[in-house]
Amino acid sequence: MENILIVEDEENIREVLVRALKEKQFAVESAPDSETAITLMQKYEFDLVLTDLKLPGKSGLELLNHIKEHTYATAVILMTAYGSVENAVEAMQHGADDYVVKPFRLDEIEIKIDRLIQEQRLLENHRYLQEETEARFGNIVGASTPMQDLIRLIEQVASTNTTALITGETGTGKELIAHTLHQRSNRKDGPFIVVHCAAYSQTLIESELFGHEKGAYTGATNQRKGRLEISQGGTLFLDELGEIPLEIQVKLLRFLESKTFERVGGNEPIQVDVRIVAATHRDLPAMIREGKFREDLYWRMNVFPIPLPPLRERSDDILLLTKHFLGKKAENREFKITRLGERLLREYHWPGNVRELENIIERAILLSSGETLRVDLALAKPNEDVRLGDKNLNQMVESMEKRLIQEALTQTGNNQAQAAKLLGIQRSTLQYKLQKYGLIK
Ligand SMILES: Nc1ncnc2c1ncn2[C@@H]1O[C@H](COP(=O)(O)OP(=O)(O)OP(=O)(O)O)[C@@H](O)[C@H]1O
Ligand SMILES: [Mg+2]
Repeated sequence: MENILIVEDEENIREVLVRALKEKQFAVESAPDSETAITLMQKYEFDLVLTDLKLPGKSGLELLNHIKEHTYATAVILMTAYGSVENAVEAMQHGADDYVVKPFRLDEIEIKIDRLIQEQRLLENHRYLQEETEARFGNIVGASTPMQDLIRLIEQVASTNTTALITGETGTGKELIAHTLHQRSNRKDGPFIVVHCAAYSQTLIESELFGHEKGAYTGATNQRKGRLEISQGGTLFLDELGEIPLEIQVKLLRFLESKTFERVGGNEPIQVDVRIVAATHRDLPAMIREGKFREDLYWRMNVFPIPLPPLRERSDDILLLTKHFLGKKAENREFKITRLGERLLREYHWPGNVRELENIIERAILLSSGETLRVDLALAKPNEDVRLGDKNLNQMVESMEKRLIQEALTQTGNNQAQAAKLLGIQRSTLQYKLQKYGLIK
């Protein structure tokens, strides 16, 4: 049986509502003002609060704010007088779930209550289902339709030997997927080797991948095996495939076609049994048009495309991921997320995707002293308005730039490579700006 609280100062209306809802088998409490309502809420948990907007003392809007900040899953319906519909619209913006305009018909209110209660049951059911699936696919958390489709795709391709190309924005989980592909394959007992292609110069990436013979170039004092060779029997993960220089792309293509390669400075063909999985946040077709990526290599790599949707396109996973990260990071503290918190998480656009969510949850934990997870504080941005005339244009641009750089660093947990990606600039440019703004020592 659901608990409903009615807050209404006009006794007649209050009594009519109490009677009608009791008849519909709800457990009903009532209060003539917000203060009494808040006291009752400390005693009981309500599934739904039906409150008048205009109340003596604290208004219905203040009561609404209180509920959204302090309770976990209470729905709120506001009652407003005819003519104050604008207030109602404002109330919806403050997180009310619905409103009715007085004078109303009882059945109108009953329909709204039924709908919200149903929604709540669904939500809970949904949560339960999500928890069920959570355990199902290794470390990948995701119950949204796009993630479930993706997991099916991964299940299919994991056991094969095909090359896979994972694409997606920064922080969407590309490395996690690559690792899962390996773990789910019959190569799982072999090595999983990662090469971050963006981290090397052209000479270094060549020798990193293919190895070199003694004396291949100055400094090559010993023979060295490349990552391809040591991946024998396992998986080689080429992260940031888009950063490989064109000359090395040719060599890689040749390897994919023949399964053999030579070390730098060597001429003996070496054969390895390795599966290649690659990832990039870049738009490879666009790079092909610009002549920066080889089309033939692209088709070779893209045998099995795995596109990861950005987090904002799978908002059904946000709460589930939040719980997952809370479980990982909150140690033995238990947190509740208010409806407001849920809404903020769902509505934010997550440019840094899952990694950003992980960082925000970590920040929220630090900012929460009680048992309510302060998502609102963790997501709050400093809102320093720039007004014309305060500074000259250059100074304004610079202060904006500095703020965005700080934001990118926060979102990526101070990872410069990822922050640079998020800002769409070279890492070296970022480093220059960090120096310039005194953001690093
Ligand atoms: N579906 C998911 N379930 C659980 N954790 C996830 C999921 N997706 C990503 N993560 C976590 O988010 C973080 C970022 O993921 P990952 O490093 O795989 O992203 P990426 O796409 O490789 O990012 P980048 O392009 O910046 O390298 C990791 O800690 C990862 O474990
Ligand atoms: Mg990555």
